[in-house]
Amino acid sequence: MQLNLTIDIDENAGFCFGVKRAIDLAEQILDEGKELYCLGEIVHNREEVDRLHKKGMISITHEQLPDIKEKNVLIRSHGEPPKTYALLEDNNNNRIEATCPIVLKLHQKVSTAGTNHEFVLIFGKKTHPEVIGIIGQLSADYFVFERIEELELSKLPKQLTIFSQTTMDLDAFRRACNYLIQSGFELNVQDTVCRRISGKKEKLAAFAERHDVVIMVAGSNSSNGKVLHEICLSVNPRSYKLTRVEEIQSDWFHPGETVGITGATSTPDWQMKKIAAFLSGL
Ligand code: F3S
Repeated sequence: MQLNLTIDIDENAGFCFGVKRAIDLAEQILDEGKELYCLGEIVHNREEVDRLHKKGMISITHEQLPDIKEKNVLIRSHGEPPKTYALLEDNNNNRIEATCPIVLKLHQKVSTAGTNHEFVLIFGKKTHPEVIGIIGQLSADYFVFERIEELELSKLPKQLTIFSQTTMDLDAFRRACNYLIQSGFELNVQDTVCRRISGKKEKLAAFAERHDVVIMVAGSNSSNGKVLHEICLSVNPRSYKLTRVEEIQSDWFHPGETVGITGATSTPDWQMKKIAAFLSGL
């Protein structure tokens, strides 16, 4: 049976400027025929990473980094702690700096926190590479949390400074700040949520609402993809998150319905187009 779906790709979806900048830089170096190592996944999207691997890029882990000497090594948009920079220098590597300028600004702010014996809270995911980079800049005592329930208020000092991982949800960050203020803490709020993505929230909700079915194209390890998918689900329960066409199930759709395809900040345009082409053929 022909489904005759109407497919619409979200014009606000796709790479944020920091990720696009890192990928453009990598491609520029590869197109010049140079060898390029990338520390960690350049973007949380397996297929895009594979595409760059085919062009010659080599991804390395932090465990492999000590063995990399005299190479071009790209620092992805998430940024790195100072110890990574020191290691690159010790091994005479050529650092290709693709840390997002917004993350670099956050690093600068964080590195000065603690000079007044502040205690720093980071609203983010403990294991996220950006948070690892942020922690590396800190000289103050700190605690990283993702949910209010993780905070043990009795163990925290009265005066706190709070930062956020750039890709966290702005409303959730505000809720955490209000909770701390209402609990009697003197809070120095450093709102470091990236507006390149938080501003997309309302537009995305409207996009998800006006389609029968929504497909969020995002890697399973993309924090931003998870946040954006939750926004879609809040207005449209028929929202599905996936990376590959093979994950699509035809019983998600009914004949003549509209399907909105959107993506995370780590989703390349070509991947959304591939899903659109597949759905058009159903
Ligand atoms: Fe930069 Fe914001 Fe993207 S911090 S990497 S532009 S989500």
